[in-house]
Amino acid sequence: MTGKIFVGILVFMIVFAAAGLVLINEGVLPDQELNGTGRMQIEARAQLGRSIEAGALLYLNNCATCHGPNGDGIAGKGPVLNPGLFTQHFPEVKASGYGGTLRDYVKMTLIAGRPVQSEWAAAQGGYAQRMPTWSQQVGGPLRDDQITDLTNFVMNWETEAAAGPSVPLDFKPVGSDTTTPLPAGDAARGADLFAQKVKAGNNSNLPCKACHSLQPGQILVGPSVAGIGTTAAAREPGKSAEEYIRESIQDPNAYIVPDNPTYLAGGKSTMPAGLGNSMTEQDLADIIAYLASLK
Ligand code: HEC
Ligand code: HEC
Repeated sequence: MTGKIFVGILVFMIVFAAAGLVLINEGVLPDQELNGTGRMQIEARAQLGRSIEAGALLYLNNCATCHGPNGDGIAGKGPVLNPGLFTQHFPEVKASGYGGTLRDYVKMTLIAGRPVQSEWAAAQGGYAQRMPTWSQQVGGPLRDDQITDLTNFVMNWETEAAAGPSVPLDFKPVGSDTTTPLPAGDAARGADLFAQKVKAGNNSNLPCKACHSLQPGQILVGPSVAGIGTTAAAREPGKSAEEYIRESIQDPNAYIVPDNPTYLAGGKSTMPAGLGNSMTEQDLADIIAYLASLK
């Protein structure tokens, strides 16, 4: 009986692999370097840029809960993609005889997921859930063009990874503990963090503005933050605006804004958990001070 199940899984995976190869060969965007200056190359580069942007939003919505908003991994949920995949794991995979490119590897993993935990993942301490299957071709939720956008987004980290670790060695994330004392916040710097004019402590842009508009009532993915300094004080009895905003960022599932069903997916907030892993205590204090000032 177990033998049959095993053969079943094997056949399943071979079908996945075949479907994957067809998709890769039909890839919408070229795999080669886009460093030319001709009209075609410029257009292709602009197209790649748009694809990476679309991939970034798909990533935040579908992947950040397990791999962290910046690909830095979440213990027990998903491995580090940025930079571990590029600097460590793929070189190992290559050394063990894998014949494809890094791009094939990323795209294949996305298309088929890993319905069976790999030995490598088990050796990392294991993850509670499997990497889901994403392509509609094999029963997942995403279209081919969305898989391509996500692949382009993940591959874009390779350039960063090659430049060496960009996270400062003394970076200390504030994490998800909402009780650690915070320094005084600087609302002006918080505004710059929100607008991505300055980077957070781990040297990345905070993704807030991709989901939160400053226009009253405009829903991007989450609610508009116009007037949040006032709304926040009324959300949860006994919590000040600052306390509520802090909880929203470090622990999005503690309270879900009730106005809109799209704020929930699979019973969880569609706001990624783990944003505190990109921020220092000062970053968090500053962004809270900024949002609380939006009366
Ligand atoms: C439910 C948690 C979960 C979600 C959601 C998830 N992943 Fe994964 N991902 C994993 C796990 C666990 C692994 C390791 C699987 C293994 O090797 O068995 C993994 C592996 C990967 C790998 C291969 C890493 C390597 O070094 O081999 C890539 C690339 C990847 N995921 C990208 C994504 C992208 C892009 C998304 C969003 C479309 C996503 N994942 C969503 C859990 C998740
Ligand atoms: C992928 C989209 C997404 C990103 C990125 C995101 N959020 Fe959210 N956010 C949401 C959604 C959806 C909600 C509503 C559901 C909930 O309550 O968790 C929300 C709720 C909030 C709330 C409560 C709003 C209210 O009206 O009560 C605050 C405050 C907030 N987010 C701040 C932030 C900050 C600050 C960042 C960046 C550090 C951020 N968010 C990044 C999607 C996102």
